[in-house]
Amino acid sequence: MHTYSVALIPGDGIGVDVVEAALEPLRAVADKRGFQISTTAFDWSCERYEVTGSMMPEDGLEQLRPHDAILLGAVGWPARVPDNVSLHGLLLPIRKGFDLYVNMRPHRLLPGITGPLRKSEFDILCIRENTEGEYSGAGGRVHVGDSSEVAVETAIFTRKSVERILRYGFEQARTRSGRLASVTKSNAQQYSMVFWDDVTRELAAEYPDVEVTSYHVDAIAARMITHPETLDVVVASNLFGDILTDIGAAIQGGLGFAASANINPLGGVPSMFEPVHGSAPDIAGKGLANPIATIWAAAQMLEHLGEKVAADDLISAISRVTATAERLTPDCGGRGTTVSVARDIANAL
Ligand code: NAD
Ligand code: IPM
Ligand code: MN
Repeated sequence: MHTYSVALIPGDGIGVDVVEAALEPLRAVADKRGFQISTTAFDWSCERYEVTGSMMPEDGLEQLRPHDAILLGAVGWPARVPDNVSLHGLLLPIRKGFDLYVNMRPHRLLPGITGPLRKSEFDILCIRENTEGEYSGAGGRVHVGDSSEVAVETAIFTRKSVERILRYGFEQARTRSGRLASVTKSNAQQYSMVFWDDVTRELAAEYPDVEVTSYHVDAIAARMITHPETLDVVVASNLFGDILTDIGAAIQGGLGFAASANINPLGGVPSMFEPVHGSAPDIAGKGLANPIATIWAAAQMLEHLGEKVAADDLISAISRVTATAERLTPDCGGRGTTVSVARDIANAL
């Protein structure tokens, strides 16, 4: 029987609640399909930071490297550790360190979930650049606290990274409806974003079967709400993708549903799977967190590991449970708990 080794990083707040809960359906589907998941839990978190002064050990990436995949909950506890410290100490170094350059986020309504829009027919796959752009980390502050203070944060766009993320988008579009939306803000940002549009056009010539539309990010933000059914694969830079996928989460019924796969398609390192949402300190530890985003991310993980049938099983089980709304968590108007929803999904398998 094949065993997959999964590194668990529950992290902070509801990250702990949802990862713990997601293990039950994950183990159940592994049983059903004849493979095993062996887990190693890492306590890397803001709590660890308060005790040791760092979010993860110095050799953290080396400890993760031998695993087949990483399942992460959420990172951040802003009342105790500044968000820039916690995120630059754990989540972002994993994305960048393993060059997990594709951040894939599906947005569609599950059965029984109506969402806030009048429309129900949409199926958007956001492909977010995950290693550079506005998140490059290049910059600094001088004259801190002075009236002459200056802060600079430089977005970096390289041909290598822009081309590989767009190419990934074109390939995905080919396997879906054949439509690709490329997102920029090239009316205002005349270097990086015009460059992105140029690379989009170059690649479009290689993919004559894909219908490409370039949108400005402000326009596509509105379109995701007014005409989401006109979009399929959406490729965006790191920051634009971050913001658009919270809109995607909102239209699919809330952050409790939005899943995220951080992938290095070249392999050789563990890819990382996580919900889009954060640690939600307002509801942490209360059994109120919707575990579905994390269980959906676990399904993305199984698909990535080559267990497509098990991944489909998990999505079907989630769908059977969402069809009966009163059993869901309070964010969907239900009376279920984090654990009861995850157990229902495990039972639906
Ligand atoms: P958040 O996603 O944690 O919460 C936003 C709102 O959505 C809150 O009202 C919360 O209760 C609700 N919510 C989120 N997930 C939910 C779920 N599964 N079920 C039900 N309700 C849910 O965003 P925030 O408040 O901006 O950030 C809180 C902390 O999380 C910060 O430290 C932030 O930096 C961090 N964060 C981390 C990640 C990550 O680790 N990937 C992502 C986003 C934010
Ligand atoms: C996300 C989060 C992170 C991001 C934060 C916590 C750094 O918002 O995964 O969407 O901006 O990438
Ligand atoms: Mn985000």
